[in-house]
Amino acid sequence: MPKITYIEHDGTEHVVEVAEGLSVMEGAVKNAIPGIDADCGGACACSTCHVYVDPAWLEKLQPKEAMEEDMLDFAYQPRENSRLTCQLKVTQALDGLVVRMPEKQI
Ligand code: FES
Repeated sequence: MPKITYIEHDGTEHVVEVAEGLSVMEGAVKNAIPGIDADCGGACACSTCHVYVDPAWLEKLQPKEAMEEDMLDFAYQPRENSRLTCQLKVTQALDGLVVRMPEKQI
C-alpha cells in the first residue's frame, strides 16, 4: 500500500499506509491524524482538508479542477503548492507523498 507522510503544523510526522482508491483526506481521517477536518466529507465544498504538498510531488498529482481552485481561495493562507486532499486519489504512484497541514483549517 502507498505510504503517505502527513506533517502537522508543529512538525509532528505521521507516516501511514493508505489503500489505493481512497483520497489523501480519507487516509488522514481513517488514521485519526489531526489537522485535516474535512467538514464536507469530501465533496469539495469546504476547504478544511487543505494541505501544502511537498514541492517534489506537485508534478505527480492529478491537476486541479476548477471547483478545487475556487474552494482553495477560501482556505487558510493558500500557497502555490496548496491542494485539497479530498481531491487527491491515492495510487501506487503517490507512494512516498509528503503533505504538510496549515496552522489551522477554516
Ligand atoms: Fe471539504 Fe475536501 S473535505 S473540500
